[in-house]
Amino acid sequence: MDNNKTVESLVSHSGALTHNVSTFLGVDSLYLFIFYCSVALFIAILIVSARFIWKYRKRSGYTNEGVTQITHSTKLELAWTIPPLIVCLVIFAWGFKDFLHMSVAPKGSEEIHVIGKKWMWQFQYKNGTTSIGELVVPVNTPITLVMSSEDVIHSFYLPNFRVKRDVLPNRYTRVWFEATKTGTFQVFCTEFCGDGHSDMLAVIRVVPNAEYRKWVADGGSVGGDDMPLDKLGEKLAQAKGCAACHSIDGSQKVGPTWKGLFGSSRKFVDGGGVVADENYIRESIEKPHLHVVAGYGPVMPVYAGLLKERELAGLVEYIKSLK
Ligand code: CUA
Repeated sequence: MDNNKTVESLVSHSGALTHNVSTFLGVDSLYLFIFYCSVALFIAILIVSARFIWKYRKRSGYTNEGVTQITHSTKLELAWTIPPLIVCLVIFAWGFKDFLHMSVAPKGSEEIHVIGKKWMWQFQYKNGTTSIGELVVPVNTPITLVMSSEDVIHSFYLPNFRVKRDVLPNRYTRVWFEATKTGTFQVFCTEFCGDGHSDMLAVIRVVPNAEYRKWVADGGSVGGDDMPLDKLGEKLAQAKGCAACHSIDGSQKVGPTWKGLFGSSRKFVDGGGVVADENYIRESIEKPHLHVVAGYGPVMPVYAGLLKERELAGLVEYIKSLK
């Protein structure tokens, strides 16, 4: 995704980011309850302050002779202790109930593995289907995400679903949610994880159950079999996270631009070089660490085994088309 596209996609989604489309509605109500309690307290403090500032303002001819020092008022202290305590206990009980609800997934929920890496989200389904940049889930079904990172700490954030949890290397973290509406929603990374952090995006697509079963059984294909290869490649470049690091307009990003790449001579960090042909592009996608282009770091994830033959062909044809 080039930067303009990223911004466009965020803007087009941002209006809807506040909609809750999961069963975690309680979080919103609790948030509003705390918010309105704070507003009420703020206004009360302002009124009392203003009243006292006026009442005890310095007047001409004022002396403090005969002023008694008040050290204690049991009534007042009870008044500012007990009502706030009750409000805090209500917030605690309410929050604890919601916390338990969000922490414990219902039995038999559908498990999907989430892998975070610089800079993309990869989703793995039980039957071996793998998807990059697109999490497809069935509507009205509890989903548990089992998450881990291949490198640094990331954070999986689904604002519409009120779901956010750190994704750590060498440890699994879990979240669950249940989508209540079909549609496409934005996924963010909210832990600063390096150059491509702000491009570490994905979408979650909530579909009817039958469509979900078919999608998983078909291996999570992007685009129909009749889609022209270069169009398929263009879709994949977005869906698989390529566009986060490779521009198509010649601009510099984390990886080399794809514009004019095909047929150009490449210089490698180890001093070697090659003219970019189909085999070179394929190798760079599947085993990018073998020949790193001079001026770039060995940061691209390995895609070997993650793309189908037709998808590789699509990406190669798309790169070829970017003259
Ligand atoms: Cu991954 Cu920020």
